Amino acid sequence: MRRKPVSNGLTGNLRVPGDKSISHRSVIFASLAEGKSMIRGFLDGEDCLRTVEVFRNMGVRIDREGTELTIHGRGVNALEEPVVPLYFGNSGTTARLMSGILAGLPFFTTAYGDDSLSNRPMDRVVQPLRQMGASIYGREDGKKLPLAFDNSALQGITYELPVKSAQVKSAVLLGGMLAEGKTTVIEKGPTRNHTETMLPEFGVEVNKTGLEVSIEGGQRLRASDINVPGDISSAAFFIVAAAIVPGSNVTIKQVGLNETRNGVIQVLERMGASISVTITEYIGKEPVGDVNVQSSSLKGCVFEGEIIANLIDEIPILALAATQAEGETVIKDAKELKVKETDRIIAVCDNLRVMGAEITPTEDGMIIQGPTPLCGGEVTSVGDHRIGMMEAIASLITDGEVVIHRPESINISYPGFFSDLDFLLEK
Ligand code: S3P
Repeated sequence: MRRKPVSNGLTGNLRVPGDKSISHRSVIFASLAEGKSMIRGFLDGEDCLRTVEVFRNMGVRIDREGTELTIHGRGVNALEEPVVPLYFGNSGTTARLMSGILAGLPFFTTAYGDDSLSNRPMDRVVQPLRQMGASIYGREDGKKLPLAFDNSALQGITYELPVKSAQVKSAVLLGGMLAEGKTTVIEKGPTRNHTETMLPEFGVEVNKTGLEVSIEGGQRLRASDINVPGDISSAAFFIVAAAIVPGSNVTIKQVGLNETRNGVIQVLERMGASISVTITEYIGKEPVGDVNVQSSSLKGCVFEGEIIANLIDEIPILALAATQAEGETVIKDAKELKVKETDRIIAVCDNLRVMGAEITPTEDGMIIQGPTPLCGGEVTSVGDHRIGMMEAIASLITDGEVVIHRPESINISYPGFFSDLDFLLEK
């Protein structure tokens, strides 16, 4: 795909697609529940559709009309043994959260993913689930997909998370929901909290004190209707675009502003972005609102520690913002980037360098000098949706054409990305 730099700013109001983390969880919880659940604002990207397909293969009727799902749950006990291997595609969230469920179901399942997912670590969920009594077999002794889950009764455990990962926390809690007794997960620092905030909406009691979350096994889920807010991780691309392209003024409407997800806004504020946030409503426990951002003079900053888990998916686009900021930006404590859809430290640095950025990878992040004018050239998404979108935003401010290889990966989380971008550029 070829993209040309723009001469005008981005303007207008936009609603971005539904939150990916909340969409996955809506499908999982509604499929395990008894009764009919309606999910509105569902993200119809490839990743979330994998989760839908997994439950259809276990006998759950899920009707979809665009971004509206009707899920006819019959309860955990009515799930059927799938006759085909379950396909997780590129989706780490499907793989990790479903592992917690499959480990606790009374039948045999096998699961596999695409090339990228097959190289991502699964031992982080397999190991605690085995501690709970799960029979899981897999490549490299269960470190990688494909995996097979056999029927075995799970026992609750207390588990200290060795990595800051909401996927691992969720997998253990979901295994715990199907186990006997109580399961407690202790986090090293806060990670996105959608599992523990959404389960009560499906009638499941979850106790959270500080960094400890507990769930009693054997609880039944009841149907619930969910309105999915816009995904701040998708909004981040246009928020940064508006900040770095002169003459921009963009408002992202009805976007999720959960405090475990809003690090990108906090960091951009620290970088001096003209950004304002208005919370307009709460959907369930999720604060939702509008984010206005205008072209800004950014300055470099250091971000590290606790905030990293809160903006982990936004680091590629924040790195682009940093190339346009005055001074040095240092990103630390982000080793987890190495095990995302690609090694995002390498993917961000390699591709931004092609466009003339001064960016150096480190063991746990990157160091960026700015501001640097960016130039045209050939880059690749390396099959990673967030790298592809970052490159498309970078192409708005280059001095010549940018060729983006493998742009189709953007469909993983944002199928309408280019039409939304063109809409903001139209006026
Ligand atoms: C997610 C958690 C994060 C994030 C991913 C979605 C979730 O992964 O990067 O896009 O929905 O729980 P980790 O838990 O591996 O950090």
